[in-house]
Amino acid sequence: MKKSTLYIVPPQGIHVAIVMDGNGRWAEMRGLPRSAGHRAGVDVVSRIVHAAPRLGIDTLTLFAFSSNNWQRSPGEVGALFGLLESYFFQEARRAAEHDVRISVIGRRDRLPSALVSAIDAVETATAENSGLHLRIAVDYSARDSMLQAACWMVSATEVTQQEFSRRLGDVTHSPDGSPDVDLLIRTGGEQRLSDFMLWECAYAELHFLDRMWPDFDVADLETAVRDFHARDRRFGSVPVTVATVAIQ
Ligand code: IPE
Ligand code: IPE
Ligand code: MG
Repeated sequence: MKKSTLYIVPPQGIHVAIVMDGNGRWAEMRGLPRSAGHRAGVDVVSRIVHAAPRLGIDTLTLFAFSSNNWQRSPGEVGALFGLLESYFFQEARRAAEHDVRISVIGRRDRLPSALVSAIDAVETATAENSGLHLRIAVDYSARDSMLQAACWMVSATEVTQQEFSRRLGDVTHSPDGSPDVDLLIRTGGEQRLSDFMLWECAYAELHFLDRMWPDFDVADLETAVRDFHARDRRFGSVPVTVATVAIQ
């Protein structure tokens, strides 16, 4: 008898996190400024967000700006923030058209006030949407958020892993806590986490692609999700058998 694998998929769908890398190289290969790569990257985000629910994804966390990206030129940082601001205002206006709830995780105290206003607008406008939960990481550092959560822990007693995850949510403005990642995708050819979701990726399945983020398409996401469902997630236990969960 053919033995297949039991895919342990949470009933509410999977949490996919993406390190959207390669925008700058994509642009440079075409003789364009790096900001053109970031602009092309935003279009990909819209397509991926649209496709995510039918692939069984209910939470999607996208790494848009790392706390270490402050080391880039003010021009590039400004261009990125401008794109994010436009995206958030656009999504706030379109809140009723898509059933997507948008939250922004990471620090806000160093962001330009116009960007913070756009974040407030999109979070408020989409708060009641109950479909995909889209989380965008801006000025985000996993180490920094763990450090802040650890500071809180010093005065707490008997902290569980669940409480620590909730606390990570508090420090990164993620009101639902910071859920475990099921599948982590990184484009751009690098095979590293670059300080993204270090706690939440403890048992994430990793999927790396050479393709630059502006070239990533819905078919790549489908492949990654199919590949995820074909893996044996053992969580330290032994393999289990039978039953599959199909992609709708
Ligand atoms: C990812 O693309 C976007 C951000 C980090 C903001 P990069 O800008 O890192 O692109 P590469 O890696 O230089 O090609
Ligand atoms: C990670 O990409 C951050 C984002 C995609 C926002 P980087 O390009 O900053 O990562 P490194 O420098 O290659 O590790
Ligand atoms: Mg990069």
